[in-house]
Amino acid sequence: MSATFKPRVFSGIQPSGGLTLGNYLGALRRFAGFQGTDRETIYCVVDLHAITVWQDPEKLRHNTREVAAAFMASGVDPRQSILFNQSQVAQHAELAWLFNCVARLGWMERMTQFKDKGGANAERVSLGLLAYPSLMAADILAYHATHVPVGEDQKQHLELTRDVAAKFNHDYGTEFFPITEPLIEGTATRVMSLRDGSKKMSKSDPSDASRINLTDDADQIAQKIRKARTDADPLPGSMDGLKDRPEARNLVNIYAALSGETADRILPRFEGQGFGAFKPALAELAVSVMTPITAEMNRIMADPAEIDRILGDGAERAAAIARPIVEGTKEIMGMIRSR
Ligand code: TYM
Repeated sequence: MSATFKPRVFSGIQPSGGLTLGNYLGALRRFAGFQGTDRETIYCVVDLHAITVWQDPEKLRHNTREVAAAFMASGVDPRQSILFNQSQVAQHAELAWLFNCVARLGWMERMTQFKDKGGANAERVSLGLLAYPSLMAADILAYHATHVPVGEDQKQHLELTRDVAAKFNHDYGTEFFPITEPLIEGTATRVMSLRDGSKKMSKSDPSDASRINLTDDADQIAQKIRKARTDADPLPGSMDGLKDRPEARNLVNIYAALSGETADRILPRFEGQGFGAFKPALAELAVSVMTPITAEMNRIMADPAEIDRILGDGAERAAAIARPIVEGTKEIMGMIRSR
């Protein structure tokens, strides 16, 4: 690949209701760090993705503003970054259609997220749920984004984005699209459920006790950590001793991610002690990190008109980048434009 692309970071979050500590540690809190570097930063509330499953319209509006508030409360500055909601920039849906004709049906059917969400019911889910990764490729490639920070669960979707770009470039004999780099980094790329260490912490888990929500208050956070599933053994002096203890490992990883230390530095302080000592320390840390963010989200949410203004302004700036790229795509594909 000889073409060079301007360094550009893109990431998105679905407004499908309730952000978790997993979203925060795996994605949100990393976004501000890309500002002020040589990379342009574009962050998107992906409402078109959310409607691949049913969304109550009033709740979708609320959740879109809430995700925008979470971006800002986590340090995304709408003057330094472009922050907008996906449906306001028509180029996402337009490029997704073009990619629907590049990507192969088998690629979509193989996606584990589709298999998990569609399950035995695959005949009855929306067509959009199947085509979801094609829209995600469009989100990224409409900006020629070079870097995409996400949690581990998005890895397969990002591989598909690279496959779409490579197939387009190959089929049309061009180097128009970059082969995007996924950035899946840090101690919290996969935060697990507080009730089951083999499952990802997720907003769609039926048990609220399985997750910490960004809207939880100090008492709720402390109570959920107190009740988190663990085992009866004392903590070891290093992570090697937690290999077969997924719940314990998850709590130690959350502590590490929240404190910014490595797990192997933390464990010697708790070595030989049970969770009776560890959980209160983790609860105190989680409350001290999360409650200022929740308070800031609430402050931002008190002025929905200002959030809408920020999203509208971001959408205009986003469209100015995406428009020529999508026009260029159509031109390469042989579509006539008479203006
Ligand atoms: P979404 O909305 O499910 O999640 C948003 C971000 O949070 C990360 N994440 C986690 N990280 C660690 N541990 C967890 N338990 C956890 N749960 C969620 C996700 O990896 C993600 O980074 N398809 C995407 C949204 C999307 C997108 C994009 C992302 C649409 N277009 C373009 C990047 C680029 C999704 O559903 O994320």
